[in-house]
Amino acid sequence: MREEVLSLGFPVFSEEGSSVETEGTLEETMTLNLHIRTGQRVLYLLKEFRASNPDELHREISEIPWEDYLSENGYFCVTSAVDNPTIRDSRYANVRCKDAVVDRFVKKFGRRPDSGPERNHTVVHLYWQGKKCGIFFDTSGEPLSRRGYRRIPLKAPMQETLAAATVLATRWQGTGHFVNPMCGSGTLAIEAAMIGLARAPGLLRSNFGFMHLRGFNEASWKMLRKKARAEAGKSIQGQVIATDIDPSALQAARQNAATAGVDHVIRFQACNFSETPVPAGEGVIVLNPPYGERLGELRELGETYQGIGDFFKQRGKGYRGYVFTGNLNLSKRIGLRTRRRVPFFNGDIECRLLEYDLYEGSRKRTSPHTVVP
Ligand SMILES: C[S@@+](CC[C@H](N)C(=O)[O-])C[C@H]1O[C@@H](n2cnc3c(N)ncnc32)[C@H](O)[C@@H]1O
Repeated sequence: MREEVLSLGFPVFSEEGSSVETEGTLEETMTLNLHIRTGQRVLYLLKEFRASNPDELHREISEIPWEDYLSENGYFCVTSAVDNPTIRDSRYANVRCKDAVVDRFVKKFGRRPDSGPERNHTVVHLYWQGKKCGIFFDTSGEPLSRRGYRRIPLKAPMQETLAAATVLATRWQGTGHFVNPMCGSGTLAIEAAMIGLARAPGLLRSNFGFMHLRGFNEASWKMLRKKARAEAGKSIQGQVIATDIDPSALQAARQNAATAGVDHVIRFQACNFSETPVPAGEGVIVLNPPYGERLGELRELGETYQGIGDFFKQRGKGYRGYVFTGNLNLSKRIGLRTRRRVPFFNGDIECRLLEYDLYEGSRKRTSPHTVVP
């Protein structure tokens, strides 16, 4: 995330967990929303203060000039991250925040905007940890992981933002090949294709939170989109290959790729992972195998993970191999030395992206000079 923000020309002041703090105008949040691949949302800070209880919270929020941003005929939703001893149910904090906005409108205009749970208009985000409070606009509205191309639900899909972060962690840029056996709904291959084509992920979406704020500069937004479209490539130097044993997964992947407008750069094939074509040359092989929960499943998966190791050894010459998994015990069955382990969270599950160097020279093998007794 840090690298992405820096590469877009924004400073990074601090990092906390998976979030980074930067600086920019409300208008500049459009650039971040259009180009960020790995972030879930772009929050714009309106006010910071300290509050010990819900009444103090209400007072501070009602002092914000909401009428500068929202229309009394509009609609807004409140989301929150709350951990304060006076609040047992975070929904109560949301209600007090919503009331503070509404009360200000009623007092000034005798009318008020509507509010509710829909995130497709204005979204106000309340951060309240201990006494520390921050009031933000969530300028993304719906999370940025909802790119808009995944229309067919499948089992255990990866979030689009996580898939993009995984591809970026492999350092694949489009020059070598990107091989993705066990592609499921195709998220990794589609995100790789968008990265390879330098296509801005936000181009697929027509609705963002910032569009519903007063002063939204539509002309500027159109210009940004036009520039992003002009900068996107038409083809990728390397091949992107996606395979899965399940024909229905493959059909979903194909359709998702077509919706994302990248199906012309991905070669799909229904097959066992071990039969995935690996073009001669260099690149990355990335697998997100099932982690398994039930015991019988785990036994079978042990063999699958062992098979992944064999596949890497036999077919991966010249490539870097990657396995994204939430089950480190199973990953031991791969039987290759990991070169790097990148921690990730998939929802609540702690996962790892394991990197294996598959260049011939790095394999565990007996050298011609080793004397074997
Ligand atoms: C965790 S899902 C992958 C999800 C994917 N990353 C996505 O975003 O949709 C694992 C996939 O592995 C596939 N799979 C399981 N065993 C396989 C095998 N032996 N060969 C090929 N694919 C297999 C399943 O059909 C499933 O689609």
